[in-house]
Amino acid sequence: MYLEYWGLDEYPFENVPDPKFMYYSAEYEEALVRLLYAVQRKKGAAMLTGEVGCGKTTLSRVLIQKLSEIDCDLGLITNPSLEPVEFIKEICYQFGLNPENGLKVDLWNMIKSRILENEKMDKSTVLIVDEAQLISKETFEEIRLLLNFQLSDRFLLTLILIGQPELQTIIHDIKQLDQRIAIKFHLDPLNRDEVTEYISSRLSKAGSNKELFTSDAVSEIYHFSEGIPRKINNLCDMSLMIGFISKIRLIEGMTIKKVVKDITQGHP
Ligand SMILES: Nc1ncnc2c1ncn2[C@@H]1O[C@H](COP(=O)(O)OP(=O)(O)O)[C@@H](O)[C@H]1O
Ligand SMILES: [Mg+2]
Repeated sequence: MYLEYWGLDEYPFENVPDPKFMYYSAEYEEALVRLLYAVQRKKGAAMLTGEVGCGKTTLSRVLIQKLSEIDCDLGLITNPSLEPVEFIKEICYQFGLNPENGLKVDLWNMIKSRILENEKMDKSTVLIVDEAQLISKETFEEIRLLLNFQLSDRFLLTLILIGQPELQTIIHDIKQLDQRIAIKFHLDPLNRDEVTEYISSRLSKAGSNKELFTSDAVSEIYHFSEGIPRKINNLCDMSLMIGFISKIRLIEGMTIKKVVKDITQGHP
């Protein structure tokens, strides 16, 4: 709608976890390095937490892209609120195994032999679970068993748990699992400078080489979004639209305030 007006090739602030639009603050960079390290050094388990909209899922997509460049057998579960058996079946599906009508013990054996096969071929096995705060206690018990597949000096599977901050408390209470999580990382919202960089980075990836937001506008965006990328996207997208409608050439603080008012009062 407003692409041509702002000189953009595509929409810069879509709320989709597209690795192409990834902005690397020092923190995202560090989280990524740590997660990759967990896989490469066969660390057993890693946990990434952060508030809703902070970029966990987006980061996981970047991680998956990186892992696909090395020899890696990867499973991704994004909707983990499943009964234990269903969860184990889902692991099977994710690794391309057919769990049809198998008993739990059969399913585990299938998974185990896949992990051992991978090990023989020097391939890492990785299971990523997003929204892991939704996993039930019973299912966590099963997940714990996954980490029993280990040799004396290393784990045969790396489990990466991603979730909202409450995941930390949940894991803390499951001692045997907690002890196996070698890497824990919490993503904080962006600071003021990072919000500036985030906006410029997304604009330039969408094909714009101009600054479309004044420093004052960025301050307002930082204030109202609290540095949360999903909220930044909403504010920036709406202000580009309003800017287009009212034919302004630069988004200023006033426009952001108007957008916030529209959003909170339900005006278009
Ligand atoms: N580091 C980042 N670089 C670029 N865009 C990001 C980044 N982090 C988050 N986003 C944007 O914010 C949106 C919400 O992030 P998401 O990864 O879904 O958060 P979470 O999984 O933590 O709730 C994403 O769709 C994406 O467009
Ligand atoms: Mg998410």
